Amino acid sequence: MLYEPGKEYLMEARLLPLARAAGYADVDSYLPRIFSDHLERQRALDALTINETSWFRDNTPYQAFTDVILPELLKARAATRQISIWSAACSSGQEAYSLAMLLDQHLPGGWTARITATDVSTEMVARVTAGRYSQVEMNRGLPATQLIKHFTRVGAQWEISPRLRDMVQARTMNLAAPFPPLPRFDLVLLRNVLIYFDLDTKRDILRRVHAVTAPDGYLMLGTAETGLEAEQHWGRESVGRMQLLRPAPSATRIPPAVPATTLTGA
Ligand SMILES: C[S@@+](CC[C@H](N)C(=O)[O-])C[C@H]1O[C@@H](n2cnc3c(N)ncnc32)[C@H](O)[C@@H]1O
Repeated sequence: MLYEPGKEYLMEARLLPLARAAGYADVDSYLPRIFSDHLERQRALDALTINETSWFRDNTPYQAFTDVILPELLKARAATRQISIWSAACSSGQEAYSLAMLLDQHLPGGWTARITATDVSTEMVARVTAGRYSQVEMNRGLPATQLIKHFTRVGAQWEISPRLRDMVQARTMNLAAPFPPLPRFDLVLLRNVLIYFDLDTKRDILRRVHAVTAPDGYLMLGTAETGLEAEQHWGRESVGRMQLLRPAPSATRIPPAVPATTLTGA
């Protein structure tokens, strides 16, 4: 994760409460503890990540999903009738559950859809699994019709229906480290997270995402993200105002762990 020079104060502000709670006077004396103590490192990661998200964020990706991606996949996966989606860097799950709502609405009977939702923050992953949201979170982009259809009130919170929750499997995963075994995905959403990495890490993540994306699959980045780092392995396709990335044909058979230098001419 990259905090730009000049943003040290932000790190300091986020880590100081943890340092104090662990009995340290300041962040400098607390830092060695983060490197030696796995639990404390996870707490620090949870505090440092920015979890901004909302339902149907930016709208156009979801429009592209309903209008183009899903109809294409229904044709391409007619033999297996299975669709597999990855919400990488899922935050508290609004992205994964927004897709689950669209699948619930548009997936024909006899089909199954699995959404894998991952985030580096264990706190966020626990929130996805719980599927509970505050009123303030509900107010951010969720249409009233979807609220009525898929949520019940539990105290001060809203809980997603078991039907949608069963579609989503949440797990902790660091995009910057080698991926654990993953299924092949028809669609990957890697939205509003690449901004936190340096160029080499972005390229490496996009290479490894390529390896787990079906050759005829799709990758969506955040609306403001250009994906210029993705040139080597991905081609572009415009759907309305949305730019989708798709595995480049010449790169589809590259195994995930081969160093970049050996890829030329493969
Ligand atoms: C700004 S949110 C984006 C959430 C969602 N994708 C969206 O567009 O609304 C960024 C998320 O990336 C996660 N994140 C940051 N670094 C990560 C990493 N190395 N691996 C996996 N997730 C990471 C954060 O925990 C946070 O939940």
